[in-house]
Amino acid sequence: MPSQGKVYIIGAGPGDPELLTLKAKRIIDEADVIIYADSLVPAEIARFAKPGAAVYGSKDMALPEIMDVTLRAVSEGKIVARIQSGDPSLYGATLEQMRILEREQVDYEIIPGVSAIFAAAAVLKAELTVPEVSQTVIMTRAEGRVPMPEGEALVDLARHQSTLAIFLSVTRMFRIANQLQEAGYSPDTPVAVAYRVGWPDEQIIRGTLADIAGKVRDAKITLQALIIVGKAVGPELLNPDSTEQVAVSHLYSDDYTHLYRRAGQGSHADADRADLYEAGGYEVQPEPATPASAVSD
Ligand SMILES: C[S@@+](CC[C@H](N)C(=O)[O-])C[C@H]1O[C@@H](n2cnc3c(N)ncnc32)[C@H](O)[C@@H]1O
Repeated sequence: MPSQGKVYIIGAGPGDPELLTLKAKRIIDEADVIIYADSLVPAEIARFAKPGAAVYGSKDMALPEIMDVTLRAVSEGKIVARIQSGDPSLYGATLEQMRILEREQVDYEIIPGVSAIFAAAAVLKAELTVPEVSQTVIMTRAEGRVPMPEGEALVDLARHQSTLAIFLSVTRMFRIANQLQEAGYSPDTPVAVAYRVGWPDEQIIRGTLADIAGKVRDAKITLQALIIVGKAVGPELLNPDSTEQVAVSHLYSDDYTHLYRRAGQGSHADADRADLYEAGGYEVQPEPATPASAVSD
């Protein structure tokens, strides 16, 4: 018989409690049982739990134990908040939990969170998709105990020369830097290593493929760090005096027509849409679902 309780798999963001979504915070406030990934989610977040809620750190729990606690609680009609770091869809081992919930016909919902990649980009003040520099972000990890599926080795991904975000792999920094250079990234490709973004001991190490591994070793960073590789994280892109040519996005360009604005005319919310055309990748659609005045990009 289907249970009365419900499980929420919640993305808690990278660490800073203020990066919780309002929805995540509300559910944590109301949950009867909190199971949180205490290696990557701060205790401060679990402390939002209401008085009397049962709180478990999952770092030392194996999957069967986590699921036992969860299933027992939902069978008693309770709300369970399973709190994970960043966004649950990335390296969150959520599928194995969801399959058990499906089998047991438990009602569950996923609440997205701010992934470490976006928190790191914010701290770096980096746009990961700079026009004519990189329009693609690959999120991956280096091969370790978990084998990579065919075609997903770093050397294969390196062919794209896109922005690469590498999770769970900082202990392999020397090997990664060498492999990427062998696969075609130039030694001066910018690299940023973001350690414990959103935590009080956050550190950002910047370098190039040629020197980043030594810097990471000197900083003694061996876990909880994200590696971002690519020209898009080069700090010189931000320098307004730099000679580096930066293409400007068409989106806000005054001489560019797209769905919500006609070239040289500001907003065209009332314009006849018939003569709009597809240009430069912003496809002109039929009537927008949302009023143009409510859309910022
Ligand atoms: C098990 S994965 C979880 C990823 C998470 N689901 C996300 O969306 O960010 C853990 C890895 O994510 C990255 N990570 C998670 N939190 C981080 C943080 N606060 N700062 C830097 N990297 C972090 C690191 O690469 C770490 O090894």
